[in-house]
Amino acid sequence: MSIVDLPLLPLGRGNDSNSERGVDCPGDLPPASDPDLVARAQAAKDALGGRVFVLGHHYQRDEVIQFADVTGDSFKLAREAAARPDAEYIVFCGVHFMAESADILTGDSQQVVLPDLAAGCSMADMAALSQVETAWEALADAGVQAQVVPVTYMNSSADIKAFCGRNGGVVCTSSNAETALSWAFEQRGPDTKVLFLPDQHLGRNTAVLQMGYSLDECVVWDPHRPNGGLTAEQLNDARMILWKGHCSVHGRFSPDVVDELRATIPGVQILVHPECQHEVVLKADLVGSTEFIIKTIEAAPAGSSWAIGTELNLVKRLADQHPDKHISFLDRTVCYCSTMNRIDLPHFVWAMESLVEGTVVNRIEVDEQTQAEALVALQRMLDLPGKTAKD
Ligand code: 13P
Ligand code: SF4
Repeated sequence: MSIVDLPLLPLGRGNDSNSERGVDCPGDLPPASDPDLVARAQAAKDALGGRVFVLGHHYQRDEVIQFADVTGDSFKLAREAAARPDAEYIVFCGVHFMAESADILTGDSQQVVLPDLAAGCSMADMAALSQVETAWEALADAGVQAQVVPVTYMNSSADIKAFCGRNGGVVCTSSNAETALSWAFEQRGPDTKVLFLPDQHLGRNTAVLQMGYSLDECVVWDPHRPNGGLTAEQLNDARMILWKGHCSVHGRFSPDVVDELRATIPGVQILVHPECQHEVVLKADLVGSTEFIIKTIEAAPAGSSWAIGTELNLVKRLADQHPDKHISFLDRTVCYCSTMNRIDLPHFVWAMESLVEGTVVNRIEVDEQTQAEALVALQRMLDLPGKTAKD
C-alpha cells in the first residue's frame, strides 16, 4: 500500500498543507486553560473589523461557533465565501476541503486561513487523485468512459473537484445532490452514468431514494481492488458508479438503534443526514443536510421527540436551543468528528491574533491550475437551477 492509499495519517504527522491529512500546528498556541481566551478572541475580532470574515460550519464547537459571522452547511458557506469580496481574510472554522473551496471561490487578494491544518476529513482522503485517474482509465478500457459524468461531493480535495471540472462534471453538496445528479444524468443522453465521489452513501441515498434508481443500478468502485472489483459487464449495466468512501462519523449510525429508540421513545421521529448508511436512511422519517436538520427542528412543535443522526456538536446545540423539544442523539457509540473538533479556541485565538499582528498563519492556497479547473465544477454547482426542498 502506498502512502497516498492510507485513509488518514495519524493526526499531527507530516507537513503537507495541500492535503486533507493531519499536520503539525506550527505556532505557539495559548493554553486551553487561559481564562482570557474568549476576551482575546473578541478583542482580535474587534481589532480586525471588516477586514476579517469568520465562517463556521455547523459541526464546530460552541466555543468557536460563537465567533462566526455566519454559520452554515458546506453549500451555504461556499456561497457566503463567494459573496464577501471585501474581506481581506476569511477565517474558516471547518475542515480543509471547505477552506480550499473558499479559496477557489474568493478573489486572488483574499486570504483563507484554517486555524488548525490538522482539520482534514477522512472521507475526502478516501479518494486520492491518482486513484480516481486510475479508475477513469479503467472506465475507458471497459468502453464506458464516454457515457460517464463525474460528480464529486463537496467533501473532496480541490484536485478531485478539478478532475470533475476538466471532465465535464460537477460538485454537489448534501443540500443539492439531487439537482446536481439530475443535471449530470442529462449530459450524455439516455445512457449517461455517474461516477459519484467520494461518499457512496450520499450517492446511493440520493439516486435510490430521491431519484428512483434501483439498488441494482448502483455498483461500488473499490479503489483498493483491481478494476475497482467490477467487471466490464457490471460497469456497463450500472447507472451509478459509487466510490467506496464514507464519513467516519455518519457511517457509524446503525439501523438497530433506530428500532431501539422507536421502541423506547413514544412518537420519536428519526432525522438523519444522507451520509448515513442506506439501511439507516431507509428507517428514518426525514433525511437532509445540516441546514435541513436545523430548519426541521426549528419548525417542530413543542413537546415533539426527535432522534438525530448527525455530528454531535450540532445535535447538542440543537438540544440546548430547543429545551421545549425532546432531542436525542441517534447513537451511544458515535462521537464528535475529530477533525472538525481540531478547531478549538486556542487555535482560533492564535490565528486571529496573528492576523492582528500582520502575520497570516495556516493560509490555504490552491494552485492556479487546480483552482481554475475546480472552479468550473463549483460554478456549475452554484449555477444549478432553483433550490431543493432540502436547502
Ligand atoms: P453538509 O455541511 O453538506 O451538511 O455536510 C456535512 C459534513 O459532513 C460536512 O463535513
Ligand atoms: Fe469529514 Fe464526516 Fe467529519 Fe464531515 S463529519 S468532516 S464528512 S469525517
